[in-house]
Amino acid sequence: VKSEPLKVMISGAPASGKGTQCELIVQKFGLVHISTGDLLRAEVASETEIGNKAKEYMNSGRLVPDEIVTVMVKARLSHEDAKEKGWLLDGYPRSASQAQSLEEMKIRPDIYIVLDVPDETLIDRCIGRRLDPVTGKIYHLKSFPPETEEIRARLITRPDDTEEKAKSRLEIYKKNAEAILSIYANIMKKIDGNQPKDRVFAEIESLLSEVQKEKEKLKLGK
Ligand code: AP5
Repeated sequence: VKSEPLKVMISGAPASGKGTQCELIVQKFGLVHISTGDLLRAEVASETEIGNKAKEYMNSGRLVPDEIVTVMVKARLSHEDAKEKGWLLDGYPRSASQAQSLEEMKIRPDIYIVLDVPDETLIDRCIGRRLDPVTGKIYHLKSFPPETEEIRARLITRPDDTEEKAKSRLEIYKKNAEAILSIYANIMKKIDGNQPKDRVFAEIESLLSEVQKEKEKLKLGK
């Protein structure tokens, strides 16, 4: 008997390691990764209407208006692949009203993972972060340097990764975190994100495997 696919939300402050962990989660569990940050950056890069509207907000480290992001997420979640393989929502909901939109659509995750990392580490991670525009891979100049000189030469820095903007993104995150948490309190699992990335992943993996087993049991019991 095949059980319902996993539905996972991952949350945490800017640079807490969401994107890094999502790469590993997708490899292991085959979920469809829906990152609003990545979707918006792609819209900006291809200069679409959404991208042109979102650009200014993103570059200054502010949240893009709810209506723009929510339409995008709804569309992505309703694709067949997300229903079939399950989904991993990264960077959404980011405000109480975004969480409310999902509740209204009866879209609820099985688990709400929060990566917990101290403020000073977050700022350092933002400043050292580099992206490979070719593969989409996330690097850090100190912790995860690129494998080859060729990759190093093409790495880019996100416009919102300056110290000042990283601090303001963190403030915005903190302002919204509690209201969102209150909606998912009963399925929330906090993980220490200030450990080597494989250690963080091992904890996530064990939580997700447990949820998967529970879902299989429920299905068999029906
Ligand atoms: P988004 O892209 O979601 O940015 P964010 O939440 O600020 O998260 P980050 O991408 O900065 O960090 P991350 O947690 O993925 O960390 P990463 O793995 O890269 O959003 C960007 C913007 O889009 C927003 O500011 C907003 O304008 C807009 N937006 C997006 N969603 C929106 C929404 N729902 N509503 C409105 N607006 C929205 O890791 C960071 C660094 O640390 C890397 O260099 C990595 O190599 C390193 N690292 C990772 N793990 C470890 C580890 N364990 N140890 C050491 N280093 C590590």
